[in-house]
Amino acid sequence: DQSRQIAETLSEFRLTTEQLLEVKKRMRIEIQNGLSKSTQDSATVKMLPTFVRSTPDGTENGDFLALDLGGTNFRVLLVKIRSGKRRTVEMHNKIYAIPLEVMQGTGEELFDHIVQCISDFLDYMGMKNTRLPLGFTFSFPCRQTSLDAGILVTWTKGFKATDCEGEDVVGLLREGIKRREEFDLDVVAVVNDTVGTMMTCAYEEPTCEIGLIAGTGSNACYMEEMRNIEMIEGDEGRMCVNMEWGAFGDNGCLDDIRTEYDRSVDDFSLNPGKQRYEKMCSGMYLGEIVRNILIDMTKKGFLFRGQISETLKTRGIFETKFLSQIESDRLALLQVRSILQHLGLDSTCDDSIIVKEVCGAVSHRAAQLCGAGMAAVVDKIRENRGLDHLDITVGVDGTLYKLHPHFSRIMHQTVNELAPQCNVNFLLSEDGSGKGAALITAVGCRMRQEMN
Ligand code: BG6
Ligand code: GLC
Repeated sequence: DQSRQIAETLSEFRLTTEQLLEVKKRMRIEIQNGLSKSTQDSATVKMLPTFVRSTPDGTENGDFLALDLGGTNFRVLLVKIRSGKRRTVEMHNKIYAIPLEVMQGTGEELFDHIVQCISDFLDYMGMKNTRLPLGFTFSFPCRQTSLDAGILVTWTKGFKATDCEGEDVVGLLREGIKRREEFDLDVVAVVNDTVGTMMTCAYEEPTCEIGLIAGTGSNACYMEEMRNIEMIEGDEGRMCVNMEWGAFGDNGCLDDIRTEYDRSVDDFSLNPGKQRYEKMCSGMYLGEIVRNILIDMTKKGFLFRGQISETLKTRGIFETKFLSQIESDRLALLQVRSILQHLGLDSTCDDSIIVKEVCGAVSHRAAQLCGAGMAAVVDKIRENRGLDHLDITVGVDGTLYKLHPHFSRIMHQTVNELAPQCNVNFLLSEDGSGKGAALITAVGCRMRQEMN
């Protein structure tokens, strides 16, 4: 009876092909709502224009600074790009911590901290006196009016600094640099991590016209036809659109597949009611779903001898890296138990089997949901181009994609199954989105010169 009840709980996480096709169809509807003038104001999937009009062509050249804020690591980078027959990209970077109190303090504190890190980096590189062009990878939804202006729509993931929402983050960065009165920089571009990832991969592989992040958060961008982007003047050519697909479902359109555990993760998050799809598919939340299921099963007496420990009550204990370890097939159950032990959870052998099953069910659904979203995107591009068959590459990054033993495979399979008219190739981004931000900055600098 116990195993029947456990199976029943986990069966809520098993989606049929019909359900996944339905998710794909709904994503397609939300994409359309985000692109159309008449519906975009209330659209949940915002489809934000990025003012990036092409992927790199190899003529990008120069030395650039890049910031990379919003993922697991905050980085400052120096990127040296050389064009010509033997194109090269040389990178130097340093990782800095952003303390929780800074992520959730005031905007001024956050930007002062960022500028302090840039200052340290410039000292480290011995470059305080050169006014370098800078690309700012800022992995949050921004409403852009040009390459170098982006108003933060809303914080997502673990950030919640005050006085930033509704403000131009490039302006906030420039003010921070002024306040410090120590060095000057030329902020040329603000870039979403999906866009940076697409550009990084497109530099090596020209068929890459989609960027995907499966990490702390979940999001995608792709090259959309200008004629379909109704909020931007002009019908010629293409522009990259930051979908902000994490907000898919915020109008209730995924409620039929959300479980009580998803609702509880959402309720206790920093942004209740928001980023509902992201909360079902990304690294920051999968562990929380698992924890909520384990609590429920413990209450019912199926786990941990019915004892809910303080650890189990602690939010955020199951980070992506632990889920990835627990699900690794090379790991014996004894090792799963030792991971749980390390987290402060005393488990029996039976417990560890159940925990592993729970993790598997949650990450499997995440990969399938992400794949269903991507299937909608590739089919949209195929139809845009009036093709029966599309060959395309997706540039991907993110800890969940890189560390989890099964996520990538299941996601790929789902895309193939749900979009059979597309041949989708996935390319792992090796250098993060800082490199892509530098490539975009190079193009921005060239455009400015051409205009003068
Ligand atoms: C990296 C980018 O490549 O991928 C980050 O440089 C980005 O800025 C990240 O946010 C996504 O991964 P994660 O798992 O660190 O959120
Ligand atoms: C969140 C952010 C989005 C970002 C994604 C991946 O969804 O809103 O801008 O691309 O996380 O980091």
